[in-house]
Order: sequence, then C-alpha cells, then structure tokens
Amino acid sequence: MRTKGIIIAIDGPAGVGKSSIGEMLALKLNYKFISTGKMYRALAWKADDIGLDLSDEIEIMALANRIKWEYKKDENPVIKIIVDGIVIGSQITCEKVGKATSAIAKLREVRKFMCAAQRELGADGGIILEGRDIGSNVFPDAEIKVYLDASPDERARRRVKQLKEQNLEADYEQIFSLILKRDKQDAERKYNPLKKDNSYYYVDSTKINKEEVVNEIFRVCEKHIKAQI
Ligand code: DC
Repeated sequence: MRTKGIIIAIDGPAGVGKSSIGEMLALKLNYKFISTGKMYRALAWKADDIGLDLSDEIEIMALANRIKWEYKKDENPVIKIIVDGIVIGSQITCEKVGKATSAIAKLREVRKFMCAAQRELGADGGIILEGRDIGSNVFPDAEIKVYLDASPDERARRRVKQLKEQNLEADYEQIFSLILKRDKQDAERKYNPLKKDNSYYYVDSTKINKEEVVNEIFRVCEKHIKAQI
C-alpha cells in the first residue's frame, strides 16, 4: 500500500541531470528522493577497493550480501545511502568508480539485488527514484514515469562547464566520446537496458533549464496527485 503518496520514476541517460531535477522536485512535493545509480556505485566502489574481479558475479554478490546497507530517511528529501557505516558521497563520483559501476551493473544477480532493495525502499510511495530501469523494471506500475533526455552534445557541454566551475580539467572531445560510450552501454545491456516506451512522459531538456524541467514535471505530478485525493 502506497500510504505516503505516489511513485515517480525518472529514467534517462548519463549526465542529463536526473539527480538535480529529482531533488528539486522532491523538495517541491515534500517527497523522498533516491539516486539508484549511487547504490550501484557504492557496491562498485567497495568491490574495486578490495580488488575484486568486477566480472565475477559470485564474488560481487558475496560482497553485496556481506555489506551492511542502510538507507537513512531524515528531514532532508535525499535518502542517505550508508554502507558499512560510511555515508556515500563524493568518494563514488570519480571516473574509476564510474567505469567499475558499468561493469557490475551488467550482472544479472546484482541487478536483482538492487531491484529488490529499491522496491522495498519505495513500497510506501511518496518517493522519486532516478536511474535507468526504474519505470521499465523496478516499478513498472509507477504512477508517473519520466524519461529525461538531452542531446549528447548538450550533456557534454554541461559536464565541461561543471568541471571548469570546480577548477578541474575538462576536455570536451573526451567527455563527449565517454557520453556516447555510456549511452551505448546503457542501451545495449542484456539485463534491464535503458529504454523508453509510451508509458513514459518524455521531457527533452536540451533547450530548457532545470527550473523549467522541474515545473513541467511538477505540473504532471500535481494533476495526478490531485486526481488521487
Ligand atoms: O546515474 P549514474 O551515472 O550514477 O549511474 C552509474 C552506473 O549505474 C551507470 O553505469 C548506469 C548504472 N545504473 C543502472 O544500470 N541502473 C540504474 N537503475 C542506475 C544506474
């Protein structure tokens, strides 16, 4: 029973701003928010740290089952992910962990594990989950499914801007080709690939800013939430 509200799924390719949009929307709706990519990243970070073979499903699953996973819901909309007592934050954002994450996210048992955890987290509703397979696999019955998109070129430009603002090196060509590679991996993955169908509300953010995207999704959610009352 969804006692706390509806489920909002936001899927889409890498670097499209699903997390910031999801967080902003959660604030407006007084909902909880979780980035499911962070859950995959947390496992990859641990696996990489102890030097596991990232294609060894048995070893990776043994680690996933050994880890103490905690999901902290406090007054903040963002659900905190805590693994073995460590709050997941900037340690998982580097390219090395990103690459390791792509490898473990291919594994069927890992996907089943994450999917079960995500279903448990979202069961009561009142939550926004962002990822690649939320509307297609984790919550196919989500009341609202959004497919957030932007052209690869625009996503690369945004990433360059973001890195430069942090005084970090940013090479457009390199970032652009990485984005194309990630898109291909997400779309061609054997289990739960990124895909959209007409159950999704499609939002192309290439030419509109974050606030406009949030307002557009908010209007759709509001109508739905009102209709439920
Ligand atoms: O959104 P992100 O970049 O943090 O995602 C990290 C990786 O996890 C990326 O390779 C896609 C994968 N992922 C996935 O397969 N399924 C999800 N629901 C979320 C992320």
